[in-house]
Amino acid sequence: MLYQPPIPSKYTEMRERDLIAAIADRKQRLGRRLVILGHHYQHDDVIQFADFTGDSLKLAKIAAAQTEAEFVIFCGVHFMAETADMLTSDDVHVILPDLAAGCSMADMAEIDQVEDAWERLTDATDAKIVPITYVNSAANIKAFCGGRDGACCTSSNAPQVLEWALRTGEKVLFLPDQHLGRNTAYMMGYPLDSMVVYDPHQENGGLTDAEVADARFILWRGHCSVHQLFTPEQCDQIRAADPAYQILVHPEVPWEVVQKADLAGSTEFIVKTVAEAPAGTKWAVGTEVNLVNRLTKQYADTKVVRSLAGVQCLCTTMYRIDMPHLLHVLDNLVDGRIVNQIHVDPETTALAILALNRMLANVSARPVAIK
Ligand code: 13P
Ligand code: SF4
Repeated sequence: MLYQPPIPSKYTEMRERDLIAAIADRKQRLGRRLVILGHHYQHDDVIQFADFTGDSLKLAKIAAAQTEAEFVIFCGVHFMAETADMLTSDDVHVILPDLAAGCSMADMAEIDQVEDAWERLTDATDAKIVPITYVNSAANIKAFCGGRDGACCTSSNAPQVLEWALRTGEKVLFLPDQHLGRNTAYMMGYPLDSMVVYDPHQENGGLTDAEVADARFILWRGHCSVHQLFTPEQCDQIRAADPAYQILVHPEVPWEVVQKADLAGSTEFIVKTVAEAPAGTKWAVGTEVNLVNRLTKQYADTKVVRSLAGVQCLCTTMYRIDMPHLLHVLDNLVDGRIVNQIHVDPETTALAILALNRMLANVSARPVAIK
């Protein structure tokens, strides 16, 4: 995680209505030079200023389409800003309002560990392994995959990317989220016993050569600490209390939870599913709380939307992006200074872009259901 120096106290001490007025003013002054992107997990305070909202795939595509703007402020987490930087031209400056907004899942695959794993796995089998990284990973992991005929995917197109991978190779190394890998492969018809878990903290990944040779999918032992909080018992409790609830989850939740759910898909899939559902329907949603709260409010008159969990499943790093940090980077832009720029070096970008382009080549018109 990067270090974010404290911003001047004048920002953190400002009243809410002054912050709103100041951000709107700076946005207006920067006009078409600026685009603000907001991931669905951002708080409403921030989303109100987003020119575009979306999941990782949608926002990556929107970033890639920017030709006019000089500045893209990414209200999301570090890997999303890195991806946007790699997909935009050198004239576009990507800014993350709080540099400490990382992703704990992305941090679970480090380049040295992945290089060791690759050596170990390719020693254990002659079969062609295709490395696929979830977009929730650092730029150097994307470059690793790009340089070895692999690709990136998001939760909106993981099945298409895995189908592509198995057309070009025999096995998949899936980084860093074991749950998205398992849930997607299972949905595609592959049994659980065709998958093994590689643990970077164990000798040889905790796998024998025979296990590597027999497996179709080698899943990295990584997870999202927010989505790990959802359990099958919560599904049972909701259904027992009110069978009218439909359970809709993000595919970062464990496999056992997806088995109990009605539907699973990316944040954009979740947003679309609730939007298109008939009035009177009830939804228990297994994903980050800011998105669930927004859906609850948005459809309060027509539908019931609640969190699947009793506890508040908050992504604390997404939550670091707030109005004071947004105003701080905007004020600097208005004064001609770029602060908190996210820039990936050209060597890493050259390889990572191969993985990102393969991701963007395997996209359907709508985010796909993982269940
Ligand atoms: P989406 O691509 O579905 O928005 O997921 C990103 C993420 O970080 C979920 O935890
Ligand atoms: Fe990362 Fe989980 Fe936060 Fe998504 S919700 S950004 S996977 S820590």
